[in-house]
Amino acid sequence: MNQDQLKKSVGYAVIDFIPPGSIIGIGTGTTIINFITHALKSIKHIIKGTVSSSVISTTYLKREGIKVFDLNQISSLVLYIDSADEINSNLEMIKGGGGALTKEKIISNFANKFICIVDESKKVEYLGKFPVPIEIIPLSYNYISKEIIKLGGIPVLRQNIVTENNNIIIDVHNLDISNPLNMENFINSLPGVVTVGIFANRTADIALIGTNSGIKTMRK
Ligand code: 5RP
Repeated sequence: MNQDQLKKSVGYAVIDFIPPGSIIGIGTGTTIINFITHALKSIKHIIKGTVSSSVISTTYLKREGIKVFDLNQISSLVLYIDSADEINSNLEMIKGGGGALTKEKIISNFANKFICIVDESKKVEYLGKFPVPIEIIPLSYNYISKEIIKLGGIPVLRQNIVTENNNIIIDVHNLDISNPLNMENFINSLPGVVTVGIFANRTADIALIGTNSGIKTMRK
């Protein structure tokens, strides 16, 4: 199977975890667009609706006739479904390759359960080969870049991107993330950081990994 077919297969696998009548949180990225336009579309009559982590996901959801609620319209969320740029065996992740990390972190923290759907190329032993996205307030760019360099990282400003929250993103290469929780907490503590794309406080609860020998399930 090619990567696209693996993405489609995990999209269908996650359907079994969706409670009928529920509102579910929806992530962002190519895996999620695949999920919306195939698997989710096929069961849209059994859910009440969704909350969306980005304008692009909202566009695809509405195009399929799936209702999108504002997060502030609902009091709880049973399930959040999203992908990742990297995931390790503790279900810690790097996310934000698609630039939607802030809304993704808010919605995943609000949700009772987070299921991460990925193809096998995303499963890693150690996080950090994929550059860590950090959404920051524009004024803090020089300050945060200096702090990141002190950590041994190489910050690269993502070009031609303003986030949906009117901020900028730096992608940090070469970061040693042997302790994802400490690194997430430290970067979060820098003034000007809106969201770091390390998901170690809010990990996934379940990961469904599409492989050529079938779907592999990892749980916390
Ligand atoms: C977007 C994300 C995505 O989940 C991540 O970038 C993976 O995307 P894709 O499914 O396109 O590989 O965090 O902000």
